[in-house]
Amino acid sequence: EKETEIKCLDRMKHLPEETYDFLELVGKIGDTLDKKVYVVGGFVRDLLLKRDNDDIDIVVEGDGVLFAEELNQELKGKLLTHEEFGTASIKLQNNNTIDIVSARREYYEYPAALPKVEKSSLWNDLFRRDFTINCMAIQLNSESFGKLIDYFGGLQDLKNRKIRVLYNLSFIEDPTRILRAIRFSARMGFSIENETKNFIMEAIRDQMITKVSDDRIREEISPMLEDENFIKYVITMQTFNLFEAIDTDLKVTKETMRKLGGIQETMDEFGKLSSQQPDIKRIIITQIFRDFPINRLYDILGKFVVNKLLADNIYYTLEAKEDLYQLLTTEDLDRFTLYNTLSQHSLEDLVFYYNDCEEAYIKHYITYYMLHLKNIKLSMSGEDLLKLNIKPGPIYKKVLEGVLKAKISGEIYTKSDEIDYAYGLYKEMKGEENV
Ligand code: CTP
Repeated sequence: EKETEIKCLDRMKHLPEETYDFLELVGKIGDTLDKKVYVVGGFVRDLLLKRDNDDIDIVVEGDGVLFAEELNQELKGKLLTHEEFGTASIKLQNNNTIDIVSARREYYEYPAALPKVEKSSLWNDLFRRDFTINCMAIQLNSESFGKLIDYFGGLQDLKNRKIRVLYNLSFIEDPTRILRAIRFSARMGFSIENETKNFIMEAIRDQMITKVSDDRIREEISPMLEDENFIKYVITMQTFNLFEAIDTDLKVTKETMRKLGGIQETMDEFGKLSSQQPDIKRIIITQIFRDFPINRLYDILGKFVVNKLLADNIYYTLEAKEDLYQLLTTEDLDRFTLYNTLSQHSLEDLVFYYNDCEEAYIKHYITYYMLHLKNIKLSMSGEDLLKLNIKPGPIYKKVLEGVLKAKISGEIYTKSDEIDYAYGLYKEMKGEENV
């Protein structure tokens, strides 16, 4: 025990000075108010794992709101209090947020396996949490600064790289934990302990996931999609059949899995063709939903994205898919039609279609467009039409469009070609007008 204590303090000494000083300050204010204070949860887990974590959660055995007020006297941040819950948060100048909760003694029936001795308020606070690795605390009061409190074997599980719940009903009480277990296990490469795995499967079987709001599902799924190794999460979700549990129509087939696995490579290929950086998250979501019934797409999009525009974009990408694939399997498609069709799509669409389609033809056309058509621009402009003594008016737009079409079609190349062609076109249009 002495050893872990020393280790804990040692790790804390490696924290950024600002963070270390802050934790010391929290402890000192605890001393002044004669209350025990702790930093808890994800911060402690990540400290022991030597991972950076700027989210600091403080537990006070006593009035957390009063404590937050005292603390903010020193910090001069933006204080937000919720008296009724005994919680507060302070937003610091550097934009980090400190959350403070009051630990209270709670009187409820402990699960039968646990002895009914009176537990400390801290114990109660930690017992309500999700996984053993997230249930450790470090005391901050001066006398015990750096003392690790580990009631549930979190340190051992951290060493063994295990995700384990504290009690069997954990996933029933809070089904978001199903997603959290998957998120942590994939993110940190931890395995889900067997009994916990069974609890997850039971909860999924009982359709607990359908009780989770769209917002909360999104909060857990969003960080998964932002991780460059997102495929790990998808694989773990798939092993629990979680996609189907979220929506029975959401079937992520082997083929989709393979395509998801190919997105990064496709992105790299496109990196060579375009200097723009496409939004990979959008491509991933589109790929996950590629087989989802389009008339129900908005029902499920809300669980994955908050942004209406992003949802609309994904909808349009998938809606256009079949017709586009059909068109792009036409032999000898002319350059102008190809340009006209693909220029209506975003880079994300093109990456998605390229990644998703099976036909070599389609891939070929997309690559051809990216390489030879996408960046075609006219060298001439309205100025040149003026020099040809053409009277400005709506005809300018028509002529220039005609020239662009000829250039895209490969009929003309140089600026002087363009000007000649423009003049011919102008004459033609004028002639038609005069008829
Ligand atoms: N927590 C919980 N059950 C949840 C959500 C959160 O028990 N459904 C607890 C965990 O103890 C967690 C803490 O609240 O450590 C803070 O939650 P959060 O900030 O969401 O997670 P972190 O563990 O900090 O993870 P991350 O690094 O992904 O932010």
